Amino acid sequence: MKRENTQVAQTAECEPIEKASRDELSAVQLARMKWSVRHAYDNVAHYRAKCDQAGVHPDDLKELADLAKFPFTSKADLRETYPYGMFAVPMRDVVRIHATSGTTGRPAVVGYTRNDIAMWSKVVARSFRAAGGTPDDIILNSYGYGLFTGGLGAHYGGEELGATVIPMSGGQTERQVQLIRDFRPTIMMATPSYMLTVADELEREGMGPDDISLRIGVFGAEPWTNEMRMEIERRLGLDALDIYGLSEVIGPGVACECIETKDGPHIWEDHFYPEIIDPVTGEVMPDGEPGELVFTSLTKEAFPVIRYRTRDLTHLLPGTARSMRRMGKITGRSDDMLIIRGVNVFPTQIEEILLRNPNLCAQYQLQVSREGHMDTLDVYVEVRQDLSDRTSEKEMAAIAADARHHIKNQVGITTNVHVLPTGKIERTQVGKAKRVIDKRPRE
Ligand code: DLL
Repeated sequence: MKRENTQVAQTAECEPIEKASRDELSAVQLARMKWSVRHAYDNVAHYRAKCDQAGVHPDDLKELADLAKFPFTSKADLRETYPYGMFAVPMRDVVRIHATSGTTGRPAVVGYTRNDIAMWSKVVARSFRAAGGTPDDIILNSYGYGLFTGGLGAHYGGEELGATVIPMSGGQTERQVQLIRDFRPTIMMATPSYMLTVADELEREGMGPDDISLRIGVFGAEPWTNEMRMEIERRLGLDALDIYGLSEVIGPGVACECIETKDGPHIWEDHFYPEIIDPVTGEVMPDGEPGELVFTSLTKEAFPVIRYRTRDLTHLLPGTARSMRRMGKITGRSDDMLIIRGVNVFPTQIEEILLRNPNLCAQYQLQVSREGHMDTLDVYVEVRQDLSDRTSEKEMAAIAADARHHIKNQVGITTNVHVLPTGKIERTQVGKAKRVIDKRPRE
């Protein structure tokens, strides 16, 4: 049954720039970088002030390495200028907004002009082509639609490729399986952990690789390993490719793996210029050395980012299937952001919500574990010491239910909240609270 309806897939032609020489690529990057830095300086007061303070001006950018003279941009800058202060065009030119988790109740807000959406669609279409996709494909898009960039980003990219897009969004696993069976998609987009949940359901309904039409999976939005790739490929009979991106830089499609080599995502360097820095000193590291990934957008209009600190830890590798450089697997983060079922969560966001309840105190701990393929988050929090003796178990349960509701509403994830009497959460000797215990296996 498999592939019966599937057109013979040929790796579609790349754009010339994807295989250009490093010299040609560098020339394009330098011209665009000069434009982008000047655009940010001229139109974003916050960034201009940072440059002026650092004593650096767009005229100082004469070669690519000069970028290191410019100040970084971080989530703190977005928080300070919330919601629109980092936009470089008037709102009437902004046609789309997305948002991602901030470290606190203020999300990071990003904007796009019509040209930005066109560029984003092109890099996502390029990613599909790299993954082996063609206009003959039918894409089941199971990334969430909404403020998250995954759903709409993948959607527009699929349409730009000329493929057929099924806008399923995330969740409703039985429905996903029904669509896989009846609509016969050939490409699936989802977080890798959710794909495994779908695989469980397919198997529960008695379906194996030969019963489904999927031939490619383009998975990302959370870290995953080559072992997970092998498991997904074995259980679903498809090629599993890694796609990387982040809202502040554009969304999905900053980098994607090529089906010929499956050796790490190629960064679409003609639009997003990568650097690796030492996360402590900020110094730029040579290619191959581990550190924090930093991006400068080269063509974005509404929301240019200059040296945006992703906090993702990885290293840069030379190009293989394309001349553009690759990134290694993300090995961790240089901040405390957790990714739980594809949702970005900062412990401080949860803390803020807990402390809004006058019965609770700042003694709390988050425990992340994995049941099957799904991550679970348990929140342990103590009642205020002076109320501890007077709060009944019933009242604690009610406080927990209330906190769970607010976390779901504001952060977007379901948690198990446990409200405890004073002294139940372990205190560390050094005086630094241990806020997060991540029990998920590191494959
Ligand atoms: O996760 C964009 C995206 C959607 C990428 C769909 C791929 C597919 P944010 O919600 O802003 O954007 O989260 C960005 O997710 O800094 C990484 O820590 C993590 N991440 C994204 N892709 C990967 C990946 C989207 N392939 C944050 N491997 C990033 C590991 C990833 N981590």
